[in-house]
Amino acid sequence: MVILVTGGTGFIGSHTCVELINAGHDVIAFDNLSNSNESTLDKICSITGKKPKFYCADMCSEEQLQSVFNENQIDAVIHFAGLKAVGESVAKPWEYYYNNICGTLNLLKVMQAHDVNKLIFSSSATVYGNPEINPITEECPLGETTNPYGETKKMQERILSDFQKANPDWHVVLLRYFNPIGAHESGLIGEEPNGVPNNLMPYIMQVAVGKLPFLRVFGNDYDTPDGTGVRDYIHVVDLARGHVAVMKTFTMDPGVYIYNLGTGIGYSVLDIVHAFEKANDITIPYQIMERRPGDIATCYSDPSKAERELGWKAIYDLETMCKDSYRFAQSLK
Ligand code: NAD
Ligand code: UFG
Repeated sequence: MVILVTGGTGFIGSHTCVELINAGHDVIAFDNLSNSNESTLDKICSITGKKPKFYCADMCSEEQLQSVFNENQIDAVIHFAGLKAVGESVAKPWEYYYNNICGTLNLLKVMQAHDVNKLIFSSSATVYGNPEINPITEECPLGETTNPYGETKKMQERILSDFQKANPDWHVVLLRYFNPIGAHESGLIGEEPNGVPNNLMPYIMQVAVGKLPFLRVFGNDYDTPDGTGVRDYIHVVDLARGHVAVMKTFTMDPGVYIYNLGTGIGYSVLDIVHAFEKANDITIPYQIMERRPGDIATCYSDPSKAERELGWKAIYDLETMCKDSYRFAQSLK
């Protein structure tokens, strides 16, 4: 199939381009490079032997999207493009609502105009809010979001579901990612956040290579085994392969399909620190700080629906995630 990957040079998008190419698909990457670099395309080429066709363009420009669809016979779209920093979204709500919502609305309009009706969307576990029960299944009610970023994910899920209801021949897949970490084993692609990282693993990676002095652990008084926050960390390559697996739904009945993509295992912040230290034989200094506003104690998935229906299951363990993260961090030094 010919797949348009919006956000294709980003962290998850680039790994997904690799897995799509490995699975024999033709990939067209679309990205405005606001949080990624064009050199990623050469790295994808080094890994797969194929450089994706690339459009440096903006989802908020209906015109630019139109020309991509005019120039290519696209079969399906995987939509990663969006702004994703939780803290920044609190400071810049207009930018987040405009970029994320406008982009999705434009995409739907242009896809419809070109009779392309297969779409996979990057959603997030954040739509569950503070879950009453863990592990979280897809049937769990959506919760209160605590920031504009999370709200854009909830709104986009709603827009896509309403759109599918009005266009019943569409295949829409909503993928709720848990916490993607790790990097491609080649060490060529991985997560390169701008500025000081917000997320745990990118922060640990910078401490590991000496760019930051110590990790700040946000709270050790949660109701969890060691008091620090528990999350479901998934290797980004497993996550990328999840996208290839959900393409099976394109041959099923049209509809809205929802899947959690996680491992089903919850690790605390200190579990991650210690696993990283052990896997890479290094010390990660840390200090316990106040809780971070908006954080929840525990969030991990029940990923069994994706295994049951699609045969997809995460295979990489925490040691591999830590080794691959460190290898990539060292390559950036
Ligand atoms: P990323 O920032 O690395 O990738 C997103 C890409 O989208 C970037 O390359 C950026 O330049 C591009 N982009 C942003 N706005 C654009 C626009 N208007 N037009 C064109 N390109 C645009 O982020 P990621 O971690 O790869 O995340 C991909 C998707 O997955 C996002 O939608 C994110 O919200 C979602 N997600 C990520 C996580 C996570 O922890 N990484 C968790 C849940 C969901
Ligand atoms: N943490 C620290 N120190 C840090 C960064 C994080 O102790 O420097 C802790 C947090 O308090 C939390 C855990 O590490 O307990 C994970 O935090 P992250 O920021 O890495 O991830 P979150 O679970 O807060 O959120 C991430 C993405 C969201 C996405 C969500 C899905 O940022 O966009 O995963 O589960 F929605």
